[in-house]
Amino acid sequence: MSSDDAVRATNDDAASCKRFAVQKGYWSDPYIQYFVRNTERKAPEISIGYYARVKGVKLLLDKFLQLTQCNCQVVNFGAGFDTLYWRLAEEGHVPKSYVEVDFHSVTSKKCHAIKTKKQLLEKIATEDGEIRFNEFDLHAANYHIVAADLRNLDELKSKLHDSNIDFGLPTLFMAECVLVYMELDKSTNLVKWIADSFQTTFFINYEQVNMADRFGQVMIQNLKSRQCLLPGVEVCSSLETQKNRFLSNGWEYCECLEMTAVYQNLPHAEVKRIERLEFLDEKELLTQLFQHYCLCWALKDPKNIGLDAIDCVPT
Ligand SMILES: C[S@@+](CC[C@H](N)C(=O)[O-])C[C@H]1O[C@@H](n2cnc3c(N)ncnc32)[C@H](O)[C@@H]1O
Repeated sequence: MSSDDAVRATNDDAASCKRFAVQKGYWSDPYIQYFVRNTERKAPEISIGYYARVKGVKLLLDKFLQLTQCNCQVVNFGAGFDTLYWRLAEEGHVPKSYVEVDFHSVTSKKCHAIKTKKQLLEKIATEDGEIRFNEFDLHAANYHIVAADLRNLDELKSKLHDSNIDFGLPTLFMAECVLVYMELDKSTNLVKWIADSFQTTFFINYEQVNMADRFGQVMIQNLKSRQCLLPGVEVCSSLETQKNRFLSNGWEYCECLEMTAVYQNLPHAEVKRIERLEFLDEKELLTQLFQHYCLCWALKDPKNIGLDAIDCVPT
């Protein structure tokens, strides 16, 4: 298996962890079952980790959608089998355009699942009832899936053009465990290009942090043993290095929190509920996991529409 294949396989892992957690009742997602079949058991620490990740990202995204009144675009990098689009559609909070980007071997499977599942297809609203598909890409009125390698900016630009991206609309980019799989110069070029090209923009990045310590080194070794290298891990040394990736490349402001902090801010009643779902052997491992992931958000807001008020504290 090549290292790119191993990276693509991380989507299967993320999707099956999400499916397992949903089955156990950590959060509700009626759509993940259409992308992943029944899956093997995962440790409760993993499910709680995914719970905090899904909730943290959604809190930021919801505040962006509320602030812009959905008059905006969302671009999900390395979206894999993420079901966010359908969850937003169900809530009636669909942005003007929602674009997902991933390798073609992943997008082709996603397109196939959508084509063959009525429950997925019926939520993809169209103006003229038409959805354009090829094997790897899908274009509907406000939902697009495109195959592109994020390390290749020209390919990405052309695919965003095919999705009618509007550089003048407030645009939120998100990357959930994606940038770490790219060499640093490639992720730097990507975030710089966004800051240079989009006037009002917001970036959510969830990935590893504090990777230089002993626990981090074990995480790296575990992934290496599955041929999965982390060429971008250098930026995952600390919260500061994570922030600098944005602040040195055209972004006005960046905040970055360890997941320990994100989890502490989540509504206490909800946290109590999910901590009762399964027996948690020792909290120490959960704390260590949370210390090695972070939620970062960066913004550029020259028109002062209020992006700086967005945070991941529930309202
Ligand atoms: C760990 S998975 C996360 C999937 C999804 N974001 C989630 O959280 O469920 C990483 C995803 O990023 C994609 N990815 C990594 N590097 C990429 C690249 N250079 N171009 C496009 N997609 C990439 C992988 O194919 C995979 O789907």
